[in-house]
Amino acid sequence: MSNFTRRDLFKTGIAASAIVAEQTGAAAQSQPPAASASPSPGALRERLSLDFGWRFHLGHADDPARDFGWGKSGDIFAKSGQTIPAATEKFDDSGWRKVDLPHDWAIELPFEHNPSLNDHGYHPLGRAFPATSIGWYRRVFDLPASDLGRRIALEFDGVYRDSIVIFNGHYIGRNFSGYAPFRYDMGDHANYGSKNVLLVRVDATLGDGWFYEGAGIYRHVWLTKTNPVHVPQWGTLVRSTVRPGAPAAVRITTEVDNETDVSSNCRVVSKIVDPAGRTVATVAATPISIPAWSRYTFEQTVEVAAPALWSVEDPRLYRLETAVESAGAAVDTYTTPFGIRSVRFDVEKGFFFNDKPVKLKGTCNHQDHAGVGAALPDRIQYYRVERLKDMGSNAYRTSHNPPTPELVDACDQLGMLMMCETRMMDSTPEGLSQLERMIRCHRNHPSIVIWSVGNEEPEQGTERGARIEATMKRIVKANDDSRPITQAMNYGWGGKGATKVQDVQGFNYGEDQIDRFHKDWPTLPMVGTETASTVSTRGIYFNDKEKGYVRAYDLEHPPWAKLAEVWWKFYDERPFLAGGFAWTGFDYRGEPTPYGWPCINSHFGIMDMCGFPKDNFYYYQAWWGSRPVLHLFPHWNWEGKEGQEVDVWVHSNLDRVELFLNGQSQGAQDITRNTHLMWKVKYAPGALEARGFKDGKQALVTNRETSGRAAKIVLSTDRQRLQANGEDVAMIAAQILDSQDREVPTADSPLTFKVSGGGKLIGLGNGDPSCHEMDKADSRRAFNGLCMAIVQTSKSADEIHVEASSPGLESATVSLTSVSATLRPSVP
Ligand code: GAL
Repeated sequence: MSNFTRRDLFKTGIAASAIVAEQTGAAAQSQPPAASASPSPGALRERLSLDFGWRFHLGHADDPARDFGWGKSGDIFAKSGQTIPAATEKFDDSGWRKVDLPHDWAIELPFEHNPSLNDHGYHPLGRAFPATSIGWYRRVFDLPASDLGRRIALEFDGVYRDSIVIFNGHYIGRNFSGYAPFRYDMGDHANYGSKNVLLVRVDATLGDGWFYEGAGIYRHVWLTKTNPVHVPQWGTLVRSTVRPGAPAAVRITTEVDNETDVSSNCRVVSKIVDPAGRTVATVAATPISIPAWSRYTFEQTVEVAAPALWSVEDPRLYRLETAVESAGAAVDTYTTPFGIRSVRFDVEKGFFFNDKPVKLKGTCNHQDHAGVGAALPDRIQYYRVERLKDMGSNAYRTSHNPPTPELVDACDQLGMLMMCETRMMDSTPEGLSQLERMIRCHRNHPSIVIWSVGNEEPEQGTERGARIEATMKRIVKANDDSRPITQAMNYGWGGKGATKVQDVQGFNYGEDQIDRFHKDWPTLPMVGTETASTVSTRGIYFNDKEKGYVRAYDLEHPPWAKLAEVWWKFYDERPFLAGGFAWTGFDYRGEPTPYGWPCINSHFGIMDMCGFPKDNFYYYQAWWGSRPVLHLFPHWNWEGKEGQEVDVWVHSNLDRVELFLNGQSQGAQDITRNTHLMWKVKYAPGALEARGFKDGKQALVTNRETSGRAAKIVLSTDRQRLQANGEDVAMIAAQILDSQDREVPTADSPLTFKVSGGGKLIGLGNGDPSCHEMDKADSRRAFNGLCMAIVQTSKSADEIHVEASSPGLESATVSLTSVSATLRPSVP
């Protein structure tokens, strides 16, 4: 009987995430407007996408001749506007490749078996690889003559790494961080009424972290145009106080810059729009004279009656619409999405959200994904958050770096709490600047509940560490006094280090210290900033060092880590712990613990690189989620092991489960909260079946059947209807079945994908941590029966047909509809 196979579960997973998206409105707007995205061109403020139409070429870190003359002579910075020929309009870039952003050149590089690349995923970046560590981006665009007199700025959401921006030959600025957003005002250097040349040299030789980080302009770029009197970047701050039975008090802080030579008589008018689009409050400030070239900060408070609170279950977003008037005339508008909610960490009772206790059921994550590296189209951020929500998770830690704004938008819109982390504990001007940019960029997002100022820093437990963190804390509070700070510490808790400074004590692992700490520091709330680090490979049930695979029972972890079942049980039993963040939700490139080459990605994920669930996914789903769960594993294709005992596990939150092999009972067992069930079963081909009971009644049945040979491919998509905007994507899962439609859980068939109509293939993945096939290709082997293709729309509404074929297998197609969409305002 195969009425509920793993394929159905997989489908259920995808369907369930679609339901989550629909309830929260995200399915309908798969490319949601970014925070403060501007109205159309010609409006008071324009915010134009600069993602399309770039040219790209690799440079060279050691050889100026192969680096477009960069550093050929020592006078690059000698005279304004005379850097290198590539920065001039007449430069011929026809030999440069056409690319659109976001773009990551690291995943385009073949893997290189060099131990120095182990942590970063074996892509050749670094001092030893000068020919592949520098990337040049070039974009030529017009600015109308009418822009003269406006403030013109370039905003980069994140470039990996050490980027130099040159505009019309002028060196504009340099940004080191691979994660912090940055902005340059370049109005002085623009050509009005003619062509402008933007050149970006990106140097990914040195790393910010110890994991795969990508290379290139892997986040969005914007061109903004405003009146000289305007709200500066991230110049609003909205905080609310929720009072039971009374209106919420909303405090609005608005900065206004006067970038003119004369004083300006200004006021701001703040309008609050509720989740249904109704204006619920308007407040106008008293006009104030802002002197030439200065900033004034307006403070306003309004009340919102019967506020629709933002929550994980019902993430309701308000909007602040700010209008700036100068001498009575409208000069700027600025939109700030925000939420009304309350957050509190309690030393005995853990975490409270909207005054209710909530346990943080979190995951840590890096930012890369199968097929696309670090350059995720926005929709993939939503896909990932949907998958995590489907698992029952309610919290996300942006380990170990400032996130891209679309990830935070996805968490806001889908209902996922966030711990937002800066790259490192650092109070140098550079470190504080990165921290401040992160806070200002994200401080209005209701999903963020806590800031983290570092992770496992060598000086976390020292007096110097405490001084560094105190300076960082001062910067955080000056920009956002509404959230606590923590640091993800893995030793040195208590004593004279960072503990003295933070609002909430972070624990990475170290469960044996937690009760003692709670007793010794009775005033400090506690959160598990990092836990688990359980390792497993999807669909593998015996360790295989040679291939680099780890069995997917909840049995393997490095010495510092814990099993899923061990850490969660520990946290669940202690009400004073706010909850924890498991390392990690998804596999990521780099850190192939417990192995090295041939593994090129981590085994820590509860899901693989594509988002296909490993078995532990169902452990968390059972004990974090609210749906009944019955998950049976391993698969039942053990040819050659006839008569030998195989460990059979069940993750379930029902009361009792009875296991059958080919109709014969193998015994029934009661379920204990937060644990799994296990049987030893002598293998015989056929059907393994688990029957789950709740309150004495059979509630769920699931089975695993021995399948025949691979015979066909089936394709499914996470979404059928896409936006024809050149950005939206569908995640297409391919599964291998036998002739009787049973999954073939060990199939590694080579698949070739073809996409026709209004879309293109942008990447492939299969979740195999030892796979050396390229992500940017049109063919890939399945791994343990599954493979994933990412298909992106063009800007023309059309049908999209995706076909997957493999020699000897029945091929499959899936059709998508790409409907006409409002395009983001873009630089032509
Ligand atoms: C932690 C670290 C993470 C990751 C993890 C692997 O110590 O914070 O970045 O390396 O170990 O277990």
